[in-house]
Amino acid sequence: MSGRTQRWELCELAVQTAREAAELVRAQRAGGVGQVATKSTETDVVTSADRAAEQLIASRLRAARPNDRILGEESGTHAGDSSVTWLVDPIDGTVNYVYGLGHYGVSIAAQIDGVTVAGVVRDIESGAEWRATLGGGAWRTDPAAPPSADAPDGALRRLSGSRVADLGVALVGTGFGYRPEQRARQGAVVAGLLPRVRDIRRFGSAALDLCNAAEGLIDAFYEVGLNAWDFGAGGLIAAEAGLRVTGLAGEPAGAAMVLAAPPALYGPLHDLLVELHAAAAAPRT
Ligand code: IPD
Repeated sequence: MSGRTQRWELCELAVQTAREAAELVRAQRAGGVGQVATKSTETDVVTSADRAAEQLIASRLRAARPNDRILGEESGTHAGDSSVTWLVDPIDGTVNYVYGLGHYGVSIAAQIDGVTVAGVVRDIESGAEWRATLGGGAWRTDPAAPPSADAPDGALRRLSGSRVADLGVALVGTGFGYRPEQRARQGAVVAGLLPRVRDIRRFGSAALDLCNAAEGLIDAFYEVGLNAWDFGAGGLIAAEAGLRVTGLAGEPAGAAMVLAAPPALYGPLHDLLVELHAAAAAPRT
């Protein structure tokens, strides 16, 4: 099987699984939030829907590909000895989910030997969906589009990010971790950034933020302290839309920084984040 076909097959499995999980979460939310427990801090929450959706995703991936490893936000690592690892966030934007703010998504990415090759993010309430395969571009599915022979899943629109080239008029998305000391540092970075950009947006789901950046609905995105499951799929989608997706100072995207910006904004935003010591907010390892 060619690499391209394998990537496409992994993406299709991710898409079908994300749709099923999204439907489960949507149906559960309609009946109320259910049980809420806390994780790393009292503001970091997990709900029964997070757990049920992750279980469903793991069981579908396991049934289709029993030898793959799965790294899930809520259940940790399921062992596997193939070269494929799945990164699963059943609800990215759990706080929005709890408050009934309709902005949270399922995120599933597949890596081969550590390289992200396929990913999907689905907005659970609106049904909007973004997907990408490595080298195959980033695409937005329109839930309202009628199915056709060319696009059985609804119209697929290829994404190419924002055309804004001046950081001073760029709308920059970001997010904050759950630990108070990290938030204090992240707040200080935002204070330095605000006078130098058009404005800041904090929507509450890094996965959806990266898709919005891929679509050009925001001009760029950065966040310190994200986990692999938060940015695995969205990072690939942004990169395939033509954005540069990295850490700072030559590092790859990771817990220390995920910066996603179109080439024209990348340099100025990168340098400003360095100047503001943004990486100092990274979790200590
Ligand atoms: C969170 C969201 C949020 C980001 C946090 C993440 P979760 O993920 O992506 O936007 O700012 O850093 O932890 O907890 O809702 O899966």
